[in-house]
Amino acid sequence: MEMEMESPFKADILKGKVGLITGGGSGIGFEISTQFGKHGASVALMGRRKQVLQAAVSALQSLGIHAVGFEGDVRNREDAKRVIESTFKHFGRIDILVNAAAGNFLVNAEDLSPNGFRTVMDIDSVGTFTMCHEALGYLRKGGHGRNSTIGGLILNISATLHYTASWYQIHVSAAKAAVDSITRSLALEWGADHDIRVNGIAPGPIADTPGLSKLAPAEIKTQAREQLPLSKIGDKWDIAMAAVYLVSDAGKFVNGTTLVVDGGHWLNRPRR
Ligand code: HXC
Repeated sequence: MEMEMESPFKADILKGKVGLITGGGSGIGFEISTQFGKHGASVALMGRRKQVLQAAVSALQSLGIHAVGFEGDVRNREDAKRVIESTFKHFGRIDILVNAAAGNFLVNAEDLSPNGFRTVMDIDSVGTFTMCHEALGYLRKGGHGRNSTIGGLILNISATLHYTASWYQIHVSAAKAAVDSITRSLALEWGADHDIRVNGIAPGPIADTPGLSKLAPAEIKTQAREQLPLSKIGDKWDIAMAAVYLVSDAGKFVNGTTLVVDGGHWLNRPRR
C-alpha cells in the first residue's frame, strides 16, 4: 500500500473545472484523475475496459469526487466524438483533456510486424490527435459551455524513450516522438487561435504502472538504486502533481512544452 502523500497545492485550485482523461481508469491516468478530483475538478474517464472503469469511478466517488466513466477506444473516431459529447452532456463543459491512453509491449524491431507498429502509433499518436480534434469545439474560447475569453487545456502523456534510443521500443518511441510534435504544433496553432494551452509530461520509471511492470521487470528496480540520479523510482503522484501544475493557472504561461518528470533518469550515464 502506497503512503498517501499530501498535496502542496490548495484544494480548490481546479474548482469548477471538468477534465476528460483517456486511459483514466488505471495507472498514471487514474492518479491524474484522482488528483484533479482532489483539487476540485469533476472528471470523466475514458477507457476500453468496462470493469476497470467502473472500479475506478467507484473509487473516485468514494472520495467525494464527481466522476463518470465512458467506454471507448481512442482509435475509433466515433468513440472519441461520443465520449466527448457525453462528458459535455454530463457536466456542461469540458476544460481539460488529458491524453493518457497508451499501448505498449516489448519487441525487437526485427520481430515487430508493421501492423504491430501501426497499432501503437494508432493508439498513442493518432488517438491523441483524434481526441484533441474532436474536443476542440469544447475547449476553444467561446466553445460549447465556455465564455469568449478563456480557452481550455490539453495535456499529452509522453515518455523519454525517444530522446535517445530505447531497446525493443521502436514503435513506442516513434509514437511518443509524434505526440511531442503534436503538442508543439497544437500549442502554436490553438494557442494563437483559440487560447488553448497544450503541454505534455514525460514520465520516467514510475512505480506500480503497466509501463514499469511490463517493460522493465525486476532489473530496473535493482538498477534504479545505483543508476538513477535521485536513486529512486518515481510515484504516480509525482506525475499527477506536474499535471495539476500544468493545467492550473500556475502554468498559465507554459505552452508547447513537455515537462520531463523522471528524477533525471534519461540524462544518466554510468559514473566513472
Ligand atoms: C509483438 C504484438 C504484441 C507483442 C500485439 N502485437 N502485442 N507484437 N509483441 N507483445 C501486434 C500484434 O501481433 C498485431 O499485429 C498488432 O500488434 C495488434 O495486436 P492486437 O492484439 O490486435 O491489438 P489490440 O488488441 O488492439 O491491443 C493493442 C495493445 C494494447 C497495444 C497490445 O492492448 C496494449 O498495449 N495494452 C496495454 C496498455 C498498456 O500497458 N499501457 C501502458 C503503456 S506504458 P499483426 O501483424 O500480428 O496483426 C507506456 C510507457 C512507455 O506507454 C515508457 C516506458 C518506460
